[in-house]
Amino acid sequence: MPDTFSAQAAMAVLDDGGNAVDAAITAQFVLAVTLPEAGNIGGGGFMTIVKDGEQRFLDYREEAPGAAHRDMYLDDEGKVKTREPLFGAKASGVPGTVAGMWKAHQAYGTLPWARLLAPAIALAEDGFVVPAHLADRVAKYIKRTSQRGIETNFADHFGDIESNQRFVQPELAATLRHIQQHGHDGFYAGKVASQIEDFMEDNGGLITTDDLAAYQAKWRQPLSLSWRDFTLVTAPPPSSGGVAVAQWLNMLEAYATTHTMPAHNSPDYLHVMSEIGKRVFADRAEYLGDPDFVDVPVAALTDPAYFARRASDINPTAISPSKPVEPGLIESEDTTHFSIVDKHGNAVSNTTTLNLSFGSGMVVAGAGFLLNDEMDDFSAKPGVPNFFGAIGGEANAIAPGKRMLSSMTPTIVLRDNEVALVTGSPGGTTIISSVTQTILNALAFEQNATMSANAPRFHHQLWPKDTIRVHPGFDTGTLKHLEQMGYTLDRRRFGDVQLIKQDSTGLSAASEQSGRGEAMVRDAHTD
Ligand code: DON
Repeated sequence: MPDTFSAQAAMAVLDDGGNAVDAAITAQFVLAVTLPEAGNIGGGGFMTIVKDGEQRFLDYREEAPGAAHRDMYLDDEGKVKTREPLFGAKASGVPGTVAGMWKAHQAYGTLPWARLLAPAIALAEDGFVVPAHLADRVAKYIKRTSQRGIETNFADHFGDIESNQRFVQPELAATLRHIQQHGHDGFYAGKVASQIEDFMEDNGGLITTDDLAAYQAKWRQPLSLSWRDFTLVTAPPPSSGGVAVAQWLNMLEAYATTHTMPAHNSPDYLHVMSEIGKRVFADRAEYLGDPDFVDVPVAALTDPAYFARRASDINPTAISPSKPVEPGLIESEDTTHFSIVDKHGNAVSNTTTLNLSFGSGMVVAGAGFLLNDEMDDFSAKPGVPNFFGAIGGEANAIAPGKRMLSSMTPTIVLRDNEVALVTGSPGGTTIISSVTQTILNALAFEQNATMSANAPRFHHQLWPKDTIRVHPGFDTGTLKHLEQMGYTLDRRRFGDVQLIKQDSTGLSAASEQSGRGEAMVRDAHTD
């Protein structure tokens, strides 16, 4: 059963005459109530917008607190304390979501801010009937963290959630009301800011009211570049995603100028795409970081000549060598994405996260919301993989006020300045593969929205060595062929794609069937 709370609330905003940005703000706040795994006001995200032909990108990513420093997660022997950037108050960056939504509203809102927050407040105040999968996730999280001796206050707030029972969140409702009344300052100054600082002081965290006062969401130039007859409008740094997707798509194009384009999801396709993935992730580790702190060579990394050079040494039949590095930990993951197109043709692609499911596991006392554990997206130590197995170095080292590198890639693809596709996904580093492959599925292989969102996907991120993560659904012959080539297969689904495709009959929306989202289209067809 999909969760329909946010899709319905967003649709009601559109029905009230709101635009795609209005609807996105409502969806974001509803998710903060009904999807505590990833929806948030204690986290951050990115919003890609095409509005009246203008391309915008809103960075509301968390940033390191002022007291953070590059070695803050190392022990006396210089080893990474792997739990600290993932659980507890010290794992949190300064949240960006409320600042982001406020900034989007200031720029593009047509309905009152109070109206946009009302559905979330009602769901927190009056409660919502808990879907079975949420109750299940909560129970598993509590069991797992307690078995491992991980200390959080999560169970105090979510421990009595029960499937099919109403769950009310009065503290969260009060916080949302405060934000409804005071906008940006309802979170970054006054009561809520003090609650966060007090909570940090009591629990060994770093965020202060000064950090909150200093936080600003930032408008950035989206990455906008050509691929085939399309324009990709996607996430620039501090996301690695846009550069990575652009590289992946264009290196495949470059490869296909000298080789036959492999058939969709054939062994050759998975191999060539994996070879490209290795190159993409090698660049990610070396060059990508917060552009306000490091020089990211975006132009060089997305230069057509560079695509051609990098693709030129792909061997169509053999795996290229990689030098060994330890693999990352593997646990559950959570982020969430939504895609919206309004009747004027404006589009929003928004990915938002607390990082892992339920973030740091810490609920701000008195304020009722979970805080992120986004600090793990920094490189705690050069060469040591984070939770998602991503390796980084200097470019993504921790520094006060710096934004941690992300893989979130909310993307809009245009053809002749009209929206052709809106896509995005959760899934840590696998987001990059999900976005790349849904673009290829929909626009290169011309699949419809449902097929594009549900065709089996795969992911190769250089490390662990020669390992391809594969969805269920590939035929056994394909998988065997890859194993014979020397690949190790990691058979686990990833993502939860939400996409909208423009085709000859109009807009189609699709939510990946194995996930929890809901696709809705008004006055058109949903497939
Ligand atoms: O920003 C990032 O790349 C990660 N914090 C996203 C985490 C995520 O997608 C978890 N997954 N499903």
